[in-house]
Amino acid sequence: MFIYNAWYMGAWADEVKPLGLLGRVLLELPVVFYRTEDGTALALEDRCCHRALPLSHGCVVGDQLQCGYHGLVYDRKGVCVKVPGQERVPAQAKVRSYPVVEQDEMFWIWMGDPALADPALIVRHPWHTDPAWVWIKDRYSINANYQLITDNLMDLTHVGYVHQRTIGGTPQAHSEAETQTTRSETSVKVTRWMPNSVPPPAYVAAFKFNTATVDRWMEIDFFPPAAVRIHTGAKDVNTGAREGDRSGGIAFVGLNLQTPETAKSTHYFWSGARTYEVGEPELRAKLLTSLPATFAEDKVVVEAQQASLDREGGVPLVMIASDAGLVHARRLVASMLENETQLKEAAAKPPDARPVQEPT
Ligand code: FES
Ligand SMILES: [Fe+2]
Repeated sequence: MFIYNAWYMGAWADEVKPLGLLGRVLLELPVVFYRTEDGTALALEDRCCHRALPLSHGCVVGDQLQCGYHGLVYDRKGVCVKVPGQERVPAQAKVRSYPVVEQDEMFWIWMGDPALADPALIVRHPWHTDPAWVWIKDRYSINANYQLITDNLMDLTHVGYVHQRTIGGTPQAHSEAETQTTRSETSVKVTRWMPNSVPPPAYVAAFKFNTATVDRWMEIDFFPPAAVRIHTGAKDVNTGAREGDRSGGIAFVGLNLQTPETAKSTHYFWSGARTYEVGEPELRAKLLTSLPATFAEDKVVVEAQQASLDREGGVPLVMIASDAGLVHARRLVASMLENETQLKEAAAKPPDARPVQEPT
């Protein structure tokens, strides 16, 4: 059901303090993230092999994790190295360990075959560490399948309806946006232009445009299985945005990482960054009021959608033109899932029986 051979965002880096622990269910598996004394990020199965207490109830000692129930101690690889009160450690006393990379203020985790965990495959997001950009972030627990969130992000015609009070603008401008969808082997891109359109309330609150209407853009990039980056912005009408000059306006970069918790619940990590007026005291407040409210509006929609699908999941859905981006995104995910299933089936097959040589 899930793609395991992929990097998923597991936590914001600052959610796990030095010597801290964080228990989280990812892809229906319990995981504990922790930092050793030297700050290294690690992840183990969050279930003690002794009596199944989650290890996130324990504590970090040096670079080892001690269970909070009867004190079994695990090393970085999840191997139990100490059982209090006895000399011998049972050979089977171990838990799973997962590859973790801390990068761009995020913890990335690989839940599949560790031999395939290539850090070069992780989506980079340099805006988190570039001092020219101010950003905020959060994690929402969403009671919906992760792909419904991807769908939401890949079809931004919903912005005019769902986000009227925040980043909306007029529904008509969104529906009539000039939209182009392209797909490569590893990504999908949807580009939308809304020339000469009325700027939304959040833009007007955060930026002083010189013209009543603006040229507005949205570029949505999907990286399977569960990452969407969105560049959005606007500037005074007819001042060169279409020709590639986006300076002098307002520009955002949003990162959305929808990591499955279960088939019907998702850790939705998001961040929003912007360049304009970096350092202005009011800036953070403006960002804080528009972005969380915007994503909260999406949360209501996708959760209601999940509930509706649960009631009548078998009833076919009707496609429309604006679904192009999400259809391509779902195809990429389906093909990754297919590849992984084939890999697993091939690995499960017994080696070909060799023909028996007749004695000569
Ligand atoms: S449950 Fe962990 S030591 Fe007993
Ligand atoms: Fe939305």
